[in-house]
Order: sequence, then C-alpha cells, then structure tokens
Amino acid sequence: MHLSSILFGLASLLVSASAKPANGTVYKHFDCGVDISRASEHFNNTVRLMHQGVFKAHSGTQIAGLTVRADAKNPIIVDFAMHIITTTAKAGTITQAMADNQLAVMNKAYAPSNVQFNRIATTFTVNDAWAVGQSADATAMKNALRNGTYRTLNIYFMTDLTGSILGTCSLPTDIGPGTPAPSTYNSDGCMIQANTMPGGNVYGFNLGMTTVHETGHWMGLLHTFEGYACTGNGDFVSDTPMQSTSTDGCPSKPPKDSCPSVAGVDPIHNYMDYSDDSCYTGFTAGQTKRMSNMWSTYRIGR
Ligand SMILES: *[C@@H]1O[C@H](CO)[C@@H](O)[C@H](O)[C@H]1NC(C)=O
Ligand SMILES: *[C@@H]1O[C@H](CO)[C@@H](O)[C@H](O)[C@H]1NC(C)=O
Ligand SMILES: *[C@@H]1O[C@H](CO)[C@@H](O)[C@H](O)[C@H]1NC(C)=O
Ligand SMILES: [Zn+2]
Repeated sequence: MHLSSILFGLASLLVSASAKPANGTVYKHFDCGVDISRASEHFNNTVRLMHQGVFKAHSGTQIAGLTVRADAKNPIIVDFAMHIITTTAKAGTITQAMADNQLAVMNKAYAPSNVQFNRIATTFTVNDAWAVGQSADATAMKNALRNGTYRTLNIYFMTDLTGSILGTCSLPTDIGPGTPAPSTYNSDGCMIQANTMPGGNVYGFNLGMTTVHETGHWMGLLHTFEGYACTGNGDFVSDTPMQSTSTDGCPSKPPKDSCPSVAGVDPIHNYMDYSDDSCYTGFTAGQTKRMSNMWSTYRIGR
C-alpha cells in the first residue's frame, strides 16, 4: 500500500471516529435536486444515443456531433474551484482542512475512473444570503465567484443550503459554438451543504461523499434509480441494475432488491444512489465510460 493511502486511511478513521456530532443537522435521507426532468433536450438526446451504444468503442471518431475522447487512456484532469460560503454566525466553522480532506476524498473516489481533480482555488466568503442561496442570491453568488471556463468544476459549499437538500448540480449541456463567455453558463456547477464535508456535522453524510455523488451529475451521470421503475431506460447506463426506489442507510443484509423480476440487486454501494456515505464504494465501468464520453462531448476544450 502506498504511504499516502495509508495516511489517508488514518485520516478517514479519525473523521469517522468523530462523525456523530452532539448537535449536528439531521437529514432523514440523502436528497439531491437533480433528475432528468431538468436535463436539456441536447443532454436527453446525447444520453439516449450513448445508451444505444454509440460510444461502445473509444475509436477517436466523431459521431453525430458527439465526440469520443481520442486520449481516453489518459486521466481526465478537472480543474476545481472550491467556494466556501458561510453565514455570519457560522463564519470559520468550515475550515481549510475540511476542504483539503474533501479534495482528497474526491481524488480517491474518482481514481479508479481515471479522473483527477486539480484544485485551482479555495475561496471563503461570509454572506448570510449566499449561504442559503435562494434563486436570485444563488445567481449573484455565482456571478461573483465562478472561476474558469465550462470545463472548470465550481462547487459552492454553503452552510445553510436552501431546500432541505444535501446538494444539487447542473448536468452538462451544449453551450453553443466556440468559447462563449462564462457569464452565459453561469449557473453551471454544484451547490452543496457545506457540513457534508469530511468532519462536518450532517450525521450519516459527513465523509465527503455528497460531493462525490454531485460531481457525478456534473460529469453527466443520473441516479441509479432514475425513473423510479423496473422497466425503461433507468439511468441510461447498462451495467447498473434496475432500481425502482432510492436507498436510505445501507441495507445490505438481506440485499435490497426493488426490482426482483430483473437481474441484479439494487446497486446500493454505487455513488449515484442515496445511501449513507459509509455505504458507498464506487462507480461501474459503464458509468466510468459514460463520464469520459460526456466529458469529450460537452466539456473538453470548452
Ligand atoms: C448545540 O447547539 C447549541 C445552539 O446552537 C449551542 O449553544 C451548543 O453549544 C451546542 N452544543 C454542542 C455540544 O455543540
Ligand atoms: C428530458 O427528458 C426528460 C425525461 O423524458 C423530460 O422530463 C424533460 O422534459 C426533457 N427535457 C427537455 C428539455 O425536453
Ligand atoms: C480564479 O482563481 C485564481 C486562483 O485563485 C485567481 O487568481 C483568479 O483571479 C480567479 N478568477 C476569477 C474569475 O475569479
Ligand atoms: Zn443526485
């Protein structure tokens, strides 16, 4: 085992040992503001084509306006701007160390998918309205803080995120020809409850996995239970079993199976379900390939 992963393992142990806060916010279950009803028509068409196998092989070819990454063997390097926004009362409660640990969690989770996050900035802002992020406030916050271009991941970690959700993200879409001004795609990015960071006070969801999940949306993935049905396209990824309900906790014994008539039990350990942070273990090969193809279609060079 590599020294850094041993050190990282120790850090995670320390985090989980102190995970149950005396006073933390309790969310009954993971709730995320992303589903396909919010996707653009362009995304809808793209995800359908990809599901039909248009991207079966990384051949370096271009099909129907969708591009396959020519260098699919190389890691995807995602520039990443972390923005921490607190209320006045909570100023200083979300620390640089929490942000550093969050980055480490992301890089560990995405390493098997050959995706690396390259942090370009960590900003700290105290603003009572932005820390909640009602629509106009969210727009003002993003206008002020967004960094980089369409291929730059901007995450706003907010102490009082509105809507009783743990996080929400934009799915990728076509931003038009050339390199449009960042102001035209200002809403791109993720808003996440800041206390889901490692060491935060959201019980069950404070190992940093909310950000792993939300970033999956930003990379073009849907929930494994998308459609809430045992038939149809589900999440448009063929190697994730059909799942008709989202998961709470980590019901592995006996295995949860919301679609018993279809092969496979529910993928409760998949980052794109709603399980507890400690339950998550990974993405499938199909999701990894999907992220690569979404990256080449929507974000590379943009
Ligand atoms: C719990 O929260 C209250 C009110 O926010 C605060 O006064 C108190 O110090 C907290 N207790 C602990 C153990 O964090
Ligand atoms: C994308 O597809 C979903 C599911 O069919 C639908 O609800 C949504 O309205 C579609 N988006 C657009 C812009 O048509
Ligand atoms: C982006 O972050 C870099 C590094 O902190 C900073 O120099 C630059 O001014 C930021 N750009 C914008 C548009 O905020
Ligand atoms: Zn989600």
